[in-house]
Amino acid sequence: MDKRQIGASFGRAAERYDTAAALQRRIGDRLLERLPKSGDEPFTILEVGAGTGFCTARLAAIGARVIALDLAEPMLRQLRRTVSTPVLSLCGDAESLPLRGNSVDMIFSNLTLQWCLDLDVLFSGFQRVLKPGGSVLYSSFGSDTLKELRSAWAQVDDASHVNLFFDQTTVQRAMHRARLSEPAVESELLQVRYSSVLQLMRELKGLGAHNVTLGRPRGLTGRNKLQRVVGAYERMMPRGIVAATFEVLYGMARKNGQ
Ligand SMILES: C[S@@+](CC[C@H](N)C(=O)[O-])C[C@H]1O[C@@H](n2cnc3c(N)ncnc32)[C@H](O)[C@@H]1O
Repeated sequence: MDKRQIGASFGRAAERYDTAAALQRRIGDRLLERLPKSGDEPFTILEVGAGTGFCTARLAAIGARVIALDLAEPMLRQLRRTVSTPVLSLCGDAESLPLRGNSVDMIFSNLTLQWCLDLDVLFSGFQRVLKPGGSVLYSSFGSDTLKELRSAWAQVDDASHVNLFFDQTTVQRAMHRARLSEPAVESELLQVRYSSVLQLMRELKGLGAHNVTLGRPRGLTGRNKLQRVVGAYERMMPRGIVAATFEVLYGMARKNGQ
């Protein structure tokens, strides 16, 4: 993946992101349900890939001090417009966290880890900035995500058209290597219906979730090729209903110590 492309793509999508992000909000709600109850003491949460602030507002509402980090400044501009509670917003990269060591009680992240390049770098950064006893809670997409779209494209050409996602075991092992304790990753398969294959493609574009693999084709996709992909996708769908698989990974771990 190309990191500059990722930031630029989410930056361009920032203003219309919320209209396309129903699935992201649904998964965010499920992740928020897994939050441990915080005590009375000040509780600092670093939210990685905060986007337009859907989870940020809810984290602030439980009384936490929230640091909202995102690679794309336009996303943070939207966040500052929509989140009424004061939170600290920070433009930066999850793989090079601009924070002191042992400084946060929790790292929370909804659907951002799939955009990171190196899980070892990412999780050792988490280990560094967490206070002893602190915890990590995140969701990400797993390797079965968008498998129908990947397979439809594979019937049409050899280029890489759909992003690749880490599988559950790879993610769990990376947490382990970073010495995060009690690492656990749960997987859940969701089927989302679309009115057409083109609607699915439009929605991915609206989210800023472009194909950022280095083997992506350059230039526009011709109408003829697009029709062949749509045809290949529709042939895989029983009863003519267009659906896409999303494998959601929910990960959690702690940093040793008190
Ligand atoms: C799918 S959006 C999710 C946003 C938000 N968490 C939500 O639930 O709506 C992914 C977000 O991660 C950000 N992002 C991608 N790669 C990142 C990185 N390496 N570091 C920080 N943020 C990143 C994007 O700019 C985008 O705002």
